[in-house]
Amino acid sequence: MLELIAKAFNTNKLTKEEIIYLLQNLKDEDRQTLFGYALETKKKHYGDEVYLRGLIEFSNHCRQDCLYCGIRASNPMLSRYRLTPEEIQVCCQEGYNLGYRTFVLQSGEDLWYTKDIIVKIIRRIKDKFPGVAITLSIGERKRDEYEAYFRAGADRFLMRHETASERLYAKLHPTMKLENRLACLQALKEIGYQVGAGFMVGLPGQSHIDLAEDLCYLQELEPDMVGIGPFIPHSETPLKGEKGGTVEDTLVMVALTRLLLPESLLPAATAMGTLHPQGRELALQAGANVVMPLLTPSSVRKLYELYQNKICLNDESGKCRYCIERRINSVGMAADLSRGDSSRFIRTHELKQKR
Ligand code: 5AD
Repeated sequence: MLELIAKAFNTNKLTKEEIIYLLQNLKDEDRQTLFGYALETKKKHYGDEVYLRGLIEFSNHCRQDCLYCGIRASNPMLSRYRLTPEEIQVCCQEGYNLGYRTFVLQSGEDLWYTKDIIVKIIRRIKDKFPGVAITLSIGERKRDEYEAYFRAGADRFLMRHETASERLYAKLHPTMKLENRLACLQALKEIGYQVGAGFMVGLPGQSHIDLAEDLCYLQELEPDMVGIGPFIPHSETPLKGEKGGTVEDTLVMVALTRLLLPESLLPAATAMGTLHPQGRELALQAGANVVMPLLTPSSVRKLYELYQNKICLNDESGKCRYCIERRINSVGMAADLSRGDSSRFIRTHELKQKR
C-alpha cells in the first residue's frame, strides 16, 4: 500500500486497477500518509496559498431532475427565486469591496437567463471590475452559447460530471445523459475555458470501482479544477432515505485527485463544512487549495438548498469572508484573493503567447 501511495506521489499516475486496490485496502494509518503526500504536492505547486472565490447563487430554478438534488424541477416544496442582472452586479460590487477577484456565478439550469442575458451579465461585470475572473456554473447549454460567454469575457466554467459511471449516472439523472455532459466538458475545454469537473462521494450504489472511474476520467480530461464533495441526502428528494457520503471517504478522493492532477485547483467543498465543523480545514490539509465563500444575498441563501443543513445561511458576505480567512490561517495557510488561475493554465497560456 505504501508503495502504491509513493508511486502516485512520485509519478502522478495510477492505473484503474491500482486505484481500485488502493481504495479497497486503505487502512486508517495509510490515510495519514496519503494526506501528507497530497499536502506536500499541493505545497509544491501552490505554496501555502488558498484561493478565495466569491460564490453567487443567482437562481434556484432548474429544468433538470437529478435524484439527489434539493432544487430539482420536481421539488414542489421549494420557493424559487431569480436575481436580476442588477442584483448580481450588486453582489459583485460587495465582493469586489471585500477583495474578491473571482466571481463564481452559479444557478440551476434556468433558461430564463437566455444567451443574451448571460452575455450582458458577463460584460457588465467585466466592464465595471477590470481584472476579475468570471467562473460560470450554469449547467448544460449549446456550444454556441458557451462560445458567446467566452467571447464576452467568461474565464472558467464549472460543471461537475457528478459520476463517470454510466450505470450510476443513468440511475441518478432521469433527464440527462452522461455522454452529453462529457461532450459539454470537452467543448468547454476546446473553446478555451479553464474547466472544472468533479463528482460526489457516497452516492447510493457507488462502489470503489465507480470512484476509480471518476479518477480515470479526470486523468483523461485533465481539468483545471475538480470539485469533490460528499453526497448529503435531502428530505424532499427520492434519495431521502439513503445514507450519505462521509468526510473520511471524501478526503481520500480529494487527496488522490491532488496526487493524480498535481496542478489542479481543488475546492474544500462547503458540503464538507456541513458534515464536520472543521470539514473544509481537513480538506485543505488533504490537498485542497480553494474555498468559495458565499456572496449570495442572505435573504435567498436558504433557498439554494442543494442539500440540507448548509452552513453560513444567516451570515453576511463580509462575515463569511473573514470567517474563512481565519479557518485558512488556523491550518497554517494564507488566504489569496488574486485571480488564482491554475498553474497548468498559466503555463500553457504563456507557451501559446511565445509561439
Ligand atoms: N449532496 C451533495 N452535493 C450535492 N449537489 C447537488 N445535490 C447534492 C446533494 N444532495 C452537488 C452536485 C452539483 C453541485 C453544485 O452540488 O455535485 O454539481
